[in-house]
Amino acid sequence: MKLTLSVIKADIGSIGGHIQPSRKVLDTVSSHVRDQGGQLLIDTYISYTGDDIAILSTHARGPGDEAVHRLCWEAFMAGTETAKAEGLYGAGQDLLKEAFSGNVRGMGPAVAELEFDERPNEPFLFFAADKTDPGAYNLPLYLAFADPMNTPGLMLSPSMAKGFRFVVMDVAHTEGDRVIELNAPEELYEIATLLRDTERYVVESVSSRESGEQAVSVSTSRLHNIAGKYTGKDDPVMLVRVQKTFPATGEVLAPYAIGPYVAGCMRGSHQMPLMPVPLNSGISYFDGPPVVSCAAFAMHDGKLTEAVDAFAHPFWDNVRNTVSEKAIGMRRQGFFGAAMLPMSELEYTGIMEKLKDLDERFVLRD
Ligand code: F6R
Ligand code: MG
Ligand code: MG
Repeated sequence: MKLTLSVIKADIGSIGGHIQPSRKVLDTVSSHVRDQGGQLLIDTYISYTGDDIAILSTHARGPGDEAVHRLCWEAFMAGTETAKAEGLYGAGQDLLKEAFSGNVRGMGPAVAELEFDERPNEPFLFFAADKTDPGAYNLPLYLAFADPMNTPGLMLSPSMAKGFRFVVMDVAHTEGDRVIELNAPEELYEIATLLRDTERYVVESVSSRESGEQAVSVSTSRLHNIAGKYTGKDDPVMLVRVQKTFPATGEVLAPYAIGPYVAGCMRGSHQMPLMPVPLNSGISYFDGPPVVSCAAFAMHDGKLTEAVDAFAHPFWDNVRNTVSEKAIGMRRQGFFGAAMLPMSELEYTGIMEKLKDLDERFVLRD
């Protein structure tokens, strides 16, 4: 049976600033999906990461399905009403359009979807990151799907021997989707050349070249491209099918031990290390640090098992400590140099007016 995994997520308001949604808002979203999704969906899992709520669902309706997208949009609308009634901060902030028009893409919420013939056993991982943007997954995906230093399966597993195909999107292009296909391992240098620029080039999907099966789907939306101004970072979600012809779960998780510096954190304007956190974690230090959670599942006929919390294991405690130290280290240099994002990322914020005023005060000395 062809099944679809859809994850649609939005920031619709938080307690105490931009740090965590309320129990009531989560309940509103969950009960809307449960009450209205009966005919449509096979199963659902609703969670939060930082200030974002994600609706993961399984169904047989294919990616981009109007009814599934509408259901999630309406669940977020209902949640927004609760958020307003509770006085939450930023109520409805990611719902950038007035009325639903067929698909939530380009309307504010982030979307990642995968359609496949379910394997007899179907392990997969659902990642959600907050206070960062979709380029944050570039390095972990490169390491997991293209680097034998991280993924011994690239050497050891005959079913992975042909490598993987990366589809990379140019997210600076706003009139439609501008994408390129690149094959690992032959085009490793080309892949690296693009993926180093996380604000412009973002991995959209990865597929096995052996089977043609898609392993990865990443949400690639850039909110400032929709709103034309800073309305929060993009806070990407990702689905990754694992094992057999795909990297093992541990190979996909391993890169997160690096705690790489990513774009985001306070006012979406800084470089800070990415911290792997348990499911349903909030945000704290310097409106950050940027966080990523991972729920591991098995499924059968679209029915999900309970979620296993991949970053709750004690191994990650030490990684979190290292990331905290890196974060404090970077914050010591305040606005200086590498601590903040380049001008191209800040141009959607208020700094542009300040620069314009200053520009007029410059004089040319004789
Ligand atoms: C970053 C984020 C926060 C806010 C900051 C200011 O993605 O959500 O760091 O940018 O708290 O928020 P406002 O402008 O709403 O007061
Ligand atoms: Mg967020
Ligand atoms: Mg937010």
